[in-house]
Amino acid sequence: MSETVGVSLLGAGNIGAGVIAALSAGASRYAARVGRPIEVRRVLVRDTARVRAGLAPHQIVGRLEDVLGDPGTQIVIEIMGGEHPAREAIEAALRSGRHVVTANKEVMAKAGGELLQIAADHGVRLLYEASVGGGIPVIGPLSRDLLANEVSAITAIINGTTNYMLTAMTQQGADYADVLAEAQRLGYAEPDPTADVEGIDAAYKIAVLCGLAFNVEIRPDEVARQGITSITARDIAYAERLGYVIKLLASARLISGAVAATVQPTLVGANEPLAKVDGVLNAVQFEGDLVGRVLFEGPGAGPGPTSSSILADVLDVAQDVVTGRRPLAFVPRRRLRVALPAEHEARYYLRIAVQDQPGVLARIAAVLGEQQISIASVIQFDRATADGTAELVFTTHQASGGALQTAVAAIRAMDVVREVGNVLPMAG
Ligand SMILES: NC(=O)c1ccc[n+]([C@@H]2O[C@H](COP(=O)([O-])OP(=O)(O)OC[C@H]3O[C@@H](n4cnc5c(N)ncnc54)[C@H](OP(=O)(O)O)[C@@H]3O)[C@@H](O)[C@H]2O)c1
Repeated sequence: MSETVGVSLLGAGNIGAGVIAALSAGASRYAARVGRPIEVRRVLVRDTARVRAGLAPHQIVGRLEDVLGDPGTQIVIEIMGGEHPAREAIEAALRSGRHVVTANKEVMAKAGGELLQIAADHGVRLLYEASVGGGIPVIGPLSRDLLANEVSAITAIINGTTNYMLTAMTQQGADYADVLAEAQRLGYAEPDPTADVEGIDAAYKIAVLCGLAFNVEIRPDEVARQGITSITARDIAYAERLGYVIKLLASARLISGAVAATVQPTLVGANEPLAKVDGVLNAVQFEGDLVGRVLFEGPGAGPGPTSSSILADVLDVAQDVVTGRRPLAFVPRRRLRVALPAEHEARYYLRIAVQDQPGVLARIAAVLGEQQISIASVIQFDRATADGTAELVFTTHQASGGALQTAVAAIRAMDVVREVGNVLPMAG
């Protein structure tokens, strides 16, 4: 019997370096908890010539076969990122009888169900706490602590970059472009920020959460998605005057046998807990029939928090290695119909620029009324501009997304309407 639990890493970048440092710093504690020391066996990277802190040259390898060919490796940690070749590497590791711990939301969103089935078929575990919410425990609570609940809704702020940007826009009154430049300078946004600002990253994460919370297979491209690029300092200021803040919310719920999943900038009531989650923090709220509402909040990224989640999975599975415990059977996911955005219901905020003349308001109200959309408030915050444009902000009562789309198309076509600005859902 081996004297250690052998762990190999696929990737030693930002997160990998954090995992290696934490494994070294916590070695004696982890050994005491698991019952044997954890040994770093092999580390796969692209550039094998680079010296890496905490690693000897013989540990660094450039081919997956060098990892999977090592009989001392019992757990593989995948932290290379991206879909390919990470997905194939995870699959090969599972098929070779290794437990796998991954931080890869893209792979888990696109192929999680399939990979979990492969793990079950090979009597090993695939754990992925770090793939959603960085250091915040969400996968663990959903897999264990909330298991007795029928989860009816998930509402989350799960992208630190966009939350940092929206918070800065709110606190500084700054515009999107200035805040993006600042976030890039500070390293909170990538040079190509598309995956974050268009909501793609958040869509991966909400798809992963749907798999666990509802036991539903939903592809990330089935998540109705709107990024934050169209949000202006005016929207933020209007929201504030209405008593709301704008957050990029990732949400999912079951509605009459279908799953509705969205990533959308949303007006959140200023007193709601999610409204107070600022900067790079993340938060995930679940609603369960037994527990009610629970909110998990904390750091959603960075080497420390992400290592915390990765190593929790490693320690959990290392105990299985030591005790010989077998994983629980995986329950295959069901495929539910995905609700179209037209089926979603919400209260809405609409910003509409019109010609400043009598009767305009009544005409817009009539179009909304034709679609059974009742207006909760109409406010003209500022005077009309010199060219005779007045900006009106409508809020509605609960309305169907389909009715709203029809009404907005009709309003856009009106001769007195100069622009329909943002149309955003409201929560809380
Ligand atoms: N950054 C965060 O805060 C955070 C938070 C939660 C989850 N995650 C997830 O953690 C994962 C890693 O993120 P990261 O920020 O550490 O990425 P990173 O800094 O880009 O590191 C990637 C590592 O993987 C290696 N690698 C990439 N492609 C490879 C290939 N084809 N063959 C061999 N090695 C390859 C790279 O080798 P070289 O060093 O030779 O280039 C590097 O060591 C991603 O899935 C990410 O989504 C990150």
